[in-house]
Amino acid sequence: MLMAEAAPQPLLEARLLSKQFPGVRALRGVSLTLQRGEVLAVIGENGAGKSTLMKILAGVQLPDAGEILVEGQPVRIATVRAAQQLGIALIHQELNLADNLDIGANIFLGREPRRCGFVDNARIHAEARTHLQRVGLDLPTETIVGTLPIGRQQLVEIAKALSSQARVLIMDEPSSSLSQHETETLFRVVRDLRAQGISVIYISHRLGEVTALADRVVVLRDGENAGELAREAITHAAMVRLMVGRDLSQFYQRQPRPHGEPVLEVDRLRTPAHPRREISFQVCAGEIVGIAGLVGAGRTELLQTVFGVTPAVGGEMRVRGQTLRPRSPQAAIAAGMALAPEDRKQHGLILAMSVRENASLPSLRRDQRSGFLNREAEQTVARNTVEQLGVKTPGLEQTVQHLSGGNQQKIVLGKWLALKPRLLLLDEPTRGIDIGAKREIYRLMDQLASEGVAVLFASSEMEEVLGMADRVLVMHEGRLAGELARDQLNEEAVMSLATGATARTELAK
Ligand SMILES: Nc1ncnc2c1ncn2[C@@H]1O[C@H](COP(=O)(O)OP(=O)(O)OP(=O)(O)O)[C@@H](O)[C@H]1O
Ligand SMILES: [Mg+2]
Repeated sequence: MLMAEAAPQPLLEARLLSKQFPGVRALRGVSLTLQRGEVLAVIGENGAGKSTLMKILAGVQLPDAGEILVEGQPVRIATVRAAQQLGIALIHQELNLADNLDIGANIFLGREPRRCGFVDNARIHAEARTHLQRVGLDLPTETIVGTLPIGRQQLVEIAKALSSQARVLIMDEPSSSLSQHETETLFRVVRDLRAQGISVIYISHRLGEVTALADRVVVLRDGENAGELAREAITHAAMVRLMVGRDLSQFYQRQPRPHGEPVLEVDRLRTPAHPRREISFQVCAGEIVGIAGLVGAGRTELLQTVFGVTPAVGGEMRVRGQTLRPRSPQAAIAAGMALAPEDRKQHGLILAMSVRENASLPSLRRDQRSGFLNREAEQTVARNTVEQLGVKTPGLEQTVQHLSGGNQQKIVLGKWLALKPRLLLLDEPTRGIDIGAKREIYRLMDQLASEGVAVLFASSEMEEVLGMADRVLVMHEGRLAGELARDQLNEEAVMSLATGATARTELAK
C-alpha cells in the first residue's frame, strides 16, 4: 500500500499564536509554516497583525498563547538573542540602525569581533565589505549611516541581518523606501538567499513584488488567517479578495471635470537642489496633477520649494492670483496650502502623543490665537480622520507609536486634509498604505478636486499616476522633461520622458 507522501517537516512553524494589546487583539490563533529555501510572502491590510507576528517569531515580543517549533521541536523565543541563536533575523519595518555610527560598526553592533581583548576594527571593516557587496552596495564601510539616503540604510540593514548567518530572514516591508534600482538589487538578494537554502518571509503591500518573488502567500485579516495561496494560485485578484474579503473593482475613480481658475502658477521657479533648472507649470482648481520621475529627479524638492520648506532661489509663484514665494511652511499654510511629506515618520508625527493630538496638530495652530486648545474641536478633527480613512485604533487616546505602520501614515495624511487646503501637495501619498486605504485616499483626492481643491501629487507608482492624474508633469534630473495631458498618458510616454529619452523640444513640436 502506498503511503501519501508526507509534507517535508517545516523549518519553522507557528501554531495558534495569539497576542493581545490593551484594547486590541492583534493576533487570534494565527498559524504558519515555513519550509527550507522558501520565499513566503505574508500580506494583509494595515493593522492585520503582520508585524506583530514577525516580532513574536524574532523574539521582540512574547505571544499570550500558542507555540513555535523549529525543525519540529517546540522552542521559546523570549529574546532577540534567542531568535538569533535559532537563526532567525528580523529586518524591522522601521529601520533600526545607529545613525551616528559607521556602516561597519552597525553591522557588528553588539557582537564585535575582538583580538587580544580589543575590538578588531580591521576585521570588522573587511567582513562588512563582503556583506555590503552581497546587497550590491559599493560604499566605504567607514560611511556614517545617518548620512545615507533612506534606501541605502535599508540595504545596510539587510547586510547586517545577512551577517548574522540567519537561516530565516524576515523582511518587514523592505522595499517601501527603495528606488526601482535598489528594489531590483533586493530581489536579486532574495533569490540568491533562496538558492542557498535560506528561508525568507517577505512582507509587502506591493502585490506586484509578491507575484514576482513568492513561492507561497499567507494572508492575514484582522489578526486571523484569511487564507493561503500556492505559487500557481498567486494572482492580484486572488490576493485582494483574501485581504479585504471582497473584490475591489473600480479602483481609480477619476471623472474628467471642467477645471476652474489657476490656483498655483509657477514661473521659472528654481529650487536650491537644482538651482540652474527653471520650472514652470500651473495647477487649476478642481484639477489633479501628478509629478512623475525617477528617484532623484527632483520631485520632492519641487514640492518642498512650493511649500516653503526649502525656499526658492529664483522665479515667481502665484497662489490664487497673489504673488507669493513662501519662505516657510507657515507662510504656505496661511496662503491655503498643505503638504503631506514623503518621509512621514520623521516629519509627520509625534510618536509619543495620542491619535487625537497628532490628527489635529496643524489645523489647531489656527485657533491658538485664543490661547486655548479647543479640546472638542480636536476630538472632532481626530474622529473624522479615523472614520474617513478607516484608521484601526482602539480609541482616540491611543499613543501613535502603538499603531501599525500604515495606520500611522493615515493619521499624517488626515491631519493635512483637516486643514481644508485650497492647494493640496502630496508626496508619495500611498506609500506603505494597504489597498483598501489606498482606494479611500484616491476617493478623497477625487472628492477634494470635485470641491475645487487643486491637487498636486508626486508618485513613483506608475499605476497611481496613470489612474489618478488629469495631467502629468514628468521630471528628469531636476528639470521638467515634459507634460502629458490625460489623453497622451501611457506608461511608455511617462518612462520615455522620465529617463530623458525624449527631449522637451521634440515633444513641443
Ligand atoms: N505595542 C503595541 N501596543 C498596542 N497596540 C499595538 C502594539 N503593536 C501593535 N498594536 C496593534 O496591533 C494591531 C496589529 O498591528 P501590526 O503592526 O501587527 O499590523 P501590520 O499588519 O503590520 O500593519 P501595517 O501594514 O500597517 O504595518 C494594530 O491594530 C496595532 O495598532
Ligand atoms: Mg507592519
